[in-house]
Amino acid sequence: MADTPLVAIVRPVADLRTTVSAWKRQGFTVGFVPTMGALHDGHLALVREAKERADRVVASVFVNPTQFAAHEDLGAYPRQEGRDAELLAEAGCDLMFAPSVEEMYRPDATTTISVGAPAEGLEGAFRPQMFGGVALVVSKLLNQVQPDVAVFGEKDFQQLIVVRRLVRDLDIPTEIIGLPTIRDGHGLALSSRNAYLSEADLAVARRLNGILAEAGAKAALGDPVAPLEAEAAQALLAAGFDSVDYVAIRRTDDLSAFETVADAPARVLAAAKIGRTRLIDNMAV
Ligand code: PAF
Repeated sequence: MADTPLVAIVRPVADLRTTVSAWKRQGFTVGFVPTMGALHDGHLALVREAKERADRVVASVFVNPTQFAAHEDLGAYPRQEGRDAELLAEAGCDLMFAPSVEEMYRPDATTTISVGAPAEGLEGAFRPQMFGGVALVVSKLLNQVQPDVAVFGEKDFQQLIVVRRLVRDLDIPTEIIGLPTIRDGHGLALSSRNAYLSEADLAVARRLNGILAEAGAKAALGDPVAPLEAEAAQALLAAGFDSVDYVAIRRTDDLSAFETVADAPARVLAAAKIGRTRLIDNMAV
């Protein structure tokens, strides 16, 4: 029987720094993939991409409390650290950084980070605490790991835009790479939250990407975007989603709104709920 490969796990920031400093002294470049664990093929694709771009790869596994509102699923968020460690090893990750909440956030910490416009609207409107929490933890992680390159999934497209702006505005010397969303055989974007879905829910969830693709195709023909957004939201409800937070067709670079897709590259983005499970997806128009 083949042995399951192991990835080294560090929890204190000091231990992380010791390992990364040793790598840098040996001339190795460092790639980084931040995650909240419950890893799936989408995360592992990020790790493999980081491995292509750097000599050594660190992945963090940290369910970040500051990006969850009180009513959200922090307590229920899936946790499977042992399995995550195996999957990371198989994907070629060299080090898993899994700090405790106390290691990450001192009880008397007072610093916050506000990214401004890119964090407003869309996810920012429905989850007002989210991007402050993401900006804070990503800033800390990038400071702790000091990677040459960090890889994020396009699945959380607004998060990618927020992180790019944060890194630019704070002069953080890490190249940010966005990797296209990994989907199942039915086009459903892989997400740790898919674990909450029953078979019947999954059949509904798998309609999301097709409905967005149709709205995007019509927008690309020059149709005004507002009616297309409303039509796609109706189509999601008809497909069995219980509620739709938004369907929006926006400029790719800063997610600002426009009336019709002109020359600027555009993205169609949506968030909708099945029961208590909130799914997001997006794709290029
Ligand atoms: O995308 C995620 O999993 C999280 O938002 C991140 C980037 C790991 C920060 O907690």
